[in-house]
Amino acid sequence: MDQEFSKNLRQWYRKNGRKLPWRSTKEAYKIWLSEIILQQTRVNQGLPYYEKFLENFPFIEQLASASEDQILRLWQGLGYYSRARNLHAAAKQVLRDFNGEFPPDFEKLRSIKGIGDYTASAIASFAFDLPHPVVDGNVYRFLSRFFGMDIPIDSSQGKKAFNELALELMDAQHAAEHNQAMMEIGSLVCKPISPNCDECPFSMACHAYLYNKVSDYPVKGKKQPSKKRYFHYFLVTDGISTYIKRRNEKDIWQGLFELPLVELFELSDFPPALPEMAKIHQPTVSKQPIKRKHILSHQELHACFWKVNIVKCLPPKDGFLRVKLSDLSTFGFPQLIVNYFEQEGL
Ligand code: ADE
Repeated sequence: MDQEFSKNLRQWYRKNGRKLPWRSTKEAYKIWLSEIILQQTRVNQGLPYYEKFLENFPFIEQLASASEDQILRLWQGLGYYSRARNLHAAAKQVLRDFNGEFPPDFEKLRSIKGIGDYTASAIASFAFDLPHPVVDGNVYRFLSRFFGMDIPIDSSQGKKAFNELALELMDAQHAAEHNQAMMEIGSLVCKPISPNCDECPFSMACHAYLYNKVSDYPVKGKKQPSKKRYFHYFLVTDGISTYIKRRNEKDIWQGLFELPLVELFELSDFPPALPEMAKIHQPTVSKQPIKRKHILSHQELHACFWKVNIVKCLPPKDGFLRVKLSDLSTFGFPQLIVNYFEQEGL
C-alpha cells in the first residue's frame, strides 16, 4: 500500500470533490441504486433519476413490490432496460435471501442479480468500508496514464492488472474515501479529452504527462464493428388512437412497448409493406419518414418513422393494443421512440 499516494489523493478530494447525495450516506440501498444508474449515464443526468427512484421507493421493500412497468417507466431514457429488470429482481432477492439488508460481504453481494465485480466493490467499500478497489472507466484512465500501462483496459488480462494496481494503491483504512477520490480525479481532472494536467497534484509523477503522451492512454483493444439494423416503425392513427405492442424478444428492449415494426436488411427510403391494421380504410402514408440513428453498444440502429393516417382505428388484433395518443406517455418505450413522439408533438 502506498500511504503517501492515498493521503495526497484524499486531501485533493476533500478540497475538490463534488458533494453528491450518494456520497453522504452509508445506506447500501441508496449506494447500490446510484451505482446502477451511474453505469448508464453521467452524474448530472443520473441525479434526477436517482432522486425520482428514491421518491417513489424510499426503501427497498417498495422497489421490490413495484410493478415492472412502473420501474421501466421511471428508467425510461437510461437505456439498457435489462438493468432496470435486474434492479427489480435484485430488490426481491435482497428481501428474500438477506432479510432486506444488503450483506456486508463481497461474494454475497456478487451473488445478487445485476451486481458484478464493479458494483460489489462499490457497495462493499462505500457502504461498509471494506477494502475492495473500485475501478470504473475514470480509474482505468487515471491509472493507465499515471503508470503508462500499455495493456488494453478491455482485455481480461488488463482488468486483472488494473485491479491489482488499484488494490496496491489503496489505503485499506480509508477504502470508501480513497475509492471515491480515485473516481473523482479521473472524472474531474484526468478527463478523456483536454485533461487538466496543470491542476493535477500527480502530474509531476505521471508517466503520460512527463512523456507528453496523455492522449495515447488508456490503450484499448480492437473493437468489433457494430451490426447495422434498419427499422421501419409505423404510427398508424385516426387522430385519436394508435397501435402499440409489448416487445417480447429477449433483447435489451424486452418488456418495453413499441409501434408496429418492419425490419429490413438494408437502408431504404421507401416504406416497406404496411402493417395489417394500416391496410384498411385508404391509408395515407407520410411522404418522408422521420429518420433517426441510435447507437447501442454493439448495434447501430437506423430507424424510419412513418405516419399512416387512417379513417378509423378498428379493434386491435395480433397482440396489439389500441391506445389513445394522449395516453402514450403512460407506457414505457425505448428512447428512440420517445424522441420520435416528442418530435411529433405527442
Ligand atoms: N460514477 C459511478 N459511481 C460514482 C460515484 N460514486 N460518484 C461519482 N461518479 C460515479
